[in-house]
Amino acid sequence: MTTPAEPAWWRDAVVYQIYPRSFQDSDGNGLGDLDGAISRLDHLAWLGVDALWLSPIYPSPGADLGYDVTDHTAVAPELGTLEDLDRLVSEAGARGIRVLLDLIPSHTSIEHPWFREHPDWYVSADEGPPNNWVASFGGPAWSRDVRTGRWYLHSFFPEQPDLDWHVPEVREAFADVIRFWLDRGVDGFRVDAVERLVKDLELRDDPPASEPFPLPLPREYARVEHRHSVDAGDVASALSALRRAAGEAALIGEVYLPTARLHRYLEHLDLAFAFEFLHAPPEATGLAVAISAASAVDGIAWVLGNHDFPRPASRFGETLAPAAALILLTLPGAAFIYQGDEIGMRDGPGGRPPIDRAGRDPFRHPMQWDASPTGGFTSGHAWLPPIDPKQRNVADQRDRQGSILRLHRELIALRRELGPGIEAIEASEEVLAYRRGAHLIAANLGTRSRPAPDQGEVLLTTSPARHRRGLLGAGEGTVGAIA
Ligand code: NOJ
Repeated sequence: MTTPAEPAWWRDAVVYQIYPRSFQDSDGNGLGDLDGAISRLDHLAWLGVDALWLSPIYPSPGADLGYDVTDHTAVAPELGTLEDLDRLVSEAGARGIRVLLDLIPSHTSIEHPWFREHPDWYVSADEGPPNNWVASFGGPAWSRDVRTGRWYLHSFFPEQPDLDWHVPEVREAFADVIRFWLDRGVDGFRVDAVERLVKDLELRDDPPASEPFPLPLPREYARVEHRHSVDAGDVASALSALRRAAGEAALIGEVYLPTARLHRYLEHLDLAFAFEFLHAPPEATGLAVAISAASAVDGIAWVLGNHDFPRPASRFGETLAPAAALILLTLPGAAFIYQGDEIGMRDGPGGRPPIDRAGRDPFRHPMQWDASPTGGFTSGHAWLPPIDPKQRNVADQRDRQGSILRLHRELIALRRELGPGIEAIEASEEVLAYRRGAHLIAANLGTRSRPAPDQGEVLLTTSPARHRRGLLGAGEGTVGAIA
């Protein structure tokens, strides 16, 4: 999609993920909104990110908190209006920040008018269930529509019927959606659940799993091998329909597949997330394996956190979280930061009772802007309780030398200097090290100090207060300039 002379903006971009309902509330109803997000754009500009990705902003009954859409070309009233979105795009643009929306083409809400008006746009069967497919969040992937008696497929919750991308009208409808938003000035889309877009036309049974899937899956879902229900059939023609509509706009695929299976998606999409990296064990060897596999793929979007998975600060722990950020932001290619990870937010307790039926509340607690009881997120009662704004917040960390927030900002500035490509470097046990042109990056993911590889002048360290030349403290990461 690009010429070598003119690299596309997204190739090395840092993209900040905003989960709108948890980012900033502007009207005191306890739910984040677009006006709130606009009021916090200066934070993104201060960090130095290139783009923001807004998780779904569309009207939704909320069975999957926005990922069950009833209108793909409107803004959910609780989040704002189309005019607010226009303002967000222009205010972001004024700060040099591009805007990506979430596009959800593989399913709609069961309350989307299409489900009644165009039942043939959905994967369905007269008799059922027609096969043994399992839904991602557990239970059969087929439900009977009480109004028509027909069986419909839902890869996720029963409230999210799957569209049939073999139907030309579905492709045309999404081409219209894409053009609608591009005309309003957005720069591209993060495309949801792309590996589900196309399924086996014959609806064959999935066989039992004979070996573990390389990425974490819910237990019931992991019992079968998703040979026919996922990543099956003519993905190329569905993806090329998306590409035709998007033209040069960025398409970033959420393709929940191992790295080795991303290629056919990247023939049409610009980037795909590195989920094996996100799920790699928080130690040097596991990370090195994931990095080596993903960096061989052209079009990798590095990511350590999002609204679906435990936060990096919880997985890596307080000591290693800065080193994890250093790795994320010094790998070659695009990097995605989930809101709150830049201040080292950890997983919270979730809602009581839980709000998300798939158990993802802990990763969606409100952003912590200041030390006040609501963390500056709302003047009302937050939809999910704040976790620990007193201990961890933007205002405090902005002023504090050595904070993980300032580290993010320094890394975002420094990464522009790093040379192309990546070369793994032999280093001591528990140390991950690689070269990017004239720079050498090293991170000690263990619990003891280790000798540092020869790095030349150390330009940045995660531990300015206790850095010692030639050594990497436990959890310390550094970027050095080789003479
Ligand atoms: C992936 C999204 O990130 C997740 O939050 C959602 O539940 C599923 N796709 C279904 O849309």
